[in-house]
Amino acid sequence: MAKNVTRFVCQSCGADYAKWSGKCESCHEWNSITEEAGSSNVPGGLAKKNIRKGKQIEFVSLEGSSKPLTRYVSNNAEFDRVCGGGLVPGSAVLIGGDPGIGKSTLLTQILASLATHAKARCVYISGEEAIDQVRLRARRLGLKADDFLLASATSVRDIATTLDEHNPPQVVVIDSIQTMFIDSLDSAPGTVSQVRASAQELIQLAKARGFCLLLVGHVTKEGVIAGPKVLEHMVDTVLTFEGERGHHFRILRAAKNRFGPTDEIGVFEMSEQGLEQVSNPSALFLAERRGNISGAAVFAGLEGTRPVLVEIQALVSPSQQANPRRAVVGWDSGRLAMILAVLEARCGLVLAGNEVYLNVAGGLRISEPAADMAVAAALISAAMDIPVPEKTVVFGEIGLSGEIRSVSQSESRLKEASKLGFEKAIIPPLRAKKNCNADASGLDTRQIEHLQDLVALFAAKTVRKAAGG
Ligand code: TYD
Ligand code: MG
Repeated sequence: MAKNVTRFVCQSCGADYAKWSGKCESCHEWNSITEEAGSSNVPGGLAKKNIRKGKQIEFVSLEGSSKPLTRYVSNNAEFDRVCGGGLVPGSAVLIGGDPGIGKSTLLTQILASLATHAKARCVYISGEEAIDQVRLRARRLGLKADDFLLASATSVRDIATTLDEHNPPQVVVIDSIQTMFIDSLDSAPGTVSQVRASAQELIQLAKARGFCLLLVGHVTKEGVIAGPKVLEHMVDTVLTFEGERGHHFRILRAAKNRFGPTDEIGVFEMSEQGLEQVSNPSALFLAERRGNISGAAVFAGLEGTRPVLVEIQALVSPSQQANPRRAVVGWDSGRLAMILAVLEARCGLVLAGNEVYLNVAGGLRISEPAADMAVAAALISAAMDIPVPEKTVVFGEIGLSGEIRSVSQSESRLKEASKLGFEKAIIPPLRAKKNCNADASGLDTRQIEHLQDLVALFAAKTVRKAAGG
């Protein structure tokens, strides 16, 4: 029989302790451990007891007759792409994001599209908002009355009983998992044990009844509400919805997907009528670009299979402080420090006495190392006050010795640049064995082997500028 014991659980990562402590050893969060009552299910606990011998399991070969995967296609191209081509029946999808970023709006719209295009029976269960609020949003989004059904509930027991009927809905949204609770547990809604138990119950039901479960999860820094981290292992797909508050762009990313690739993004724009799909993000990210100013370089990036062009802006200004500021928006600050160090150590461009600001315009977050050379170009351009040559895109990874390394899919990056009216490209040396045909894009490419060559490119212009050319 399970013994009732008190456990101490980290609200941030879900680690379990026998006694309280101020800091979680597993995720290093402070003040995140709280006392929770529950039955002990410590691994190994069962082994000590006298348990029955299990039955033999059967092994099968890789080949076999399994049903082809059916998917509910929403006809919202951005959403479908991120899901790997549509939602899979019986799967559980977690959508995480900061409060107010637009998760409820997105799911409301997706349900309506699923109802219209996939003819799926959909229900939306809100634990956060009253029916009227959800209705108000649906009206604002211009949805029809019979698109899907609504309910306002927080008890997992009630929800499970309702969904465990003869003809359950095909797609179920739970907004949000942090508001759900199981009354047999003592802890409050939002605690790790409640979130985990509620999710487990609902996921099991989704698998048994074959409906697709979409769980909304809030991410909070304080760790007051359990972050959806503990859920990530339990669900099939984890999507994150992100964006800068001041910007209208929202990006949906797959962080984990058992039914598709994880590097795809979906781009949306938040408008008065809800989230609109952005099928050509490059054009949008470059829309407000002003040509011929120093400190800006266009990076030909890749998000999943899709090339995305964004502007990288740098500002370098003299500082009297011992530790001048370095601030980065949309990129990794460690990576910026590395590039500054390479510029200083390998190319003699000293920026130590300057404040350095770097910004990825439009609110996109870039994680590709291929952005290195575009960042370097923006920095050199800002430091020397020479604009990057007009109609030029830049990409390439920088190594610690200053060498420029080639990156994947150069061809599709160049093609996208050419499509958007760019004429030149500063790129890494193309390896002959990789049959990349840079000429196919029609761009005038300049292959750079070492970061010094990039600095020299700008320095040559300084000389010409000084000579009045
Ligand atoms: P919401 O979907 O409620 O965010 P979340 O569920 O992630 O907490 O919406 C967030 C914001 O979006 C809200 O501040 C209002 C804004 N919004 C629009 O700009 N246009 C719209 O059509 C809708 C429905 C919301
Ligand atoms: Mg919401």
